[in-house]
Amino acid sequence: MATFTLPKNSKINGKGRSHKAEGATRVKTFKIYRYDPDTGENPRYDKFEVDLDQCGPMILDALFKIKNEIDPTLTFRRSCREGICGSCSMNMNGKNGLACTSAIEDMKGDIQITPLPHMEVIKDLVPDFTHFYAQYASIRPWLQTVTPTPSGKERLQSPEEREQLDGLYECILCACCSSSCPSYWWNSDKFLGPAILLQAYRWLADSRDEMTGERLNELEDPFRLYRCHTIMNCANVCPKGLSPAKAIAETKKMMAERSI
Ligand code: SF4
Ligand code: SF4
Ligand code: FES
Repeated sequence: MATFTLPKNSKINGKGRSHKAEGATRVKTFKIYRYDPDTGENPRYDKFEVDLDQCGPMILDALFKIKNEIDPTLTFRRSCREGICGSCSMNMNGKNGLACTSAIEDMKGDIQITPLPHMEVIKDLVPDFTHFYAQYASIRPWLQTVTPTPSGKERLQSPEEREQLDGLYECILCACCSSSCPSYWWNSDKFLGPAILLQAYRWLADSRDEMTGERLNELEDPFRLYRCHTIMNCANVCPKGLSPAKAIAETKKMMAERSI
């Protein structure tokens, strides 16, 4: 039987702090994962009561309220507040999503917030994306061509060719999908995971790209592509409604068709 050893300082030690929202009538409790590598202490959960009458509607609003009014050391990423930048991805009540587009009222009971699962934690709700971005760079996510563009001309696509990119170009690289994929949890050193494979297919599907063969060669490996077992967690959590599993299936189809 496989045994797993938890990394140093990875056990929750239970000595969390708590804050009461005195005098509030509409109260929600947020149980938030806290970890600061500089202290040498194990992670803990802190509980913060938030007065919903004095708070915006989204989870990110509550995080801001806690940081601004209760504990300025609370650390999380955000930028656009509109579901566009992908920075505020985290796990809320067991499901990955974007804090800025997740409504507090949609969550029953106390709200537990942790960083994206199975990623190294830098601090509190901030995971380390270094490996994820290196995998993204590895698929060369830009248009590659060999034939020169006639001077002053653009590389055109028909409306039908452009449509092939729908459901792909919208990806904001939030990693909600990859960090919810069991295959990626266990093999993220070699398996590219759903987000990066969706991005890889985005370039395979682009009629202007001229490196299709080379791109498929790069993916033809027992781990990089074929560790996807169609578990579909990726499509279930994507906050943009995309289906990395479908993109992966299309890539496997392209791979099979070229070997016929
Ligand atoms: S469908 Fe594939 S990529 Fe998506 S969660 Fe399942 S194993 Fe992972
Ligand atoms: S496919 Fe969806 S969940 Fe995955 S990185 Fe892109 S936007 Fe995020
Ligand atoms: S802050 Fe940009 S997606 Fe949430």
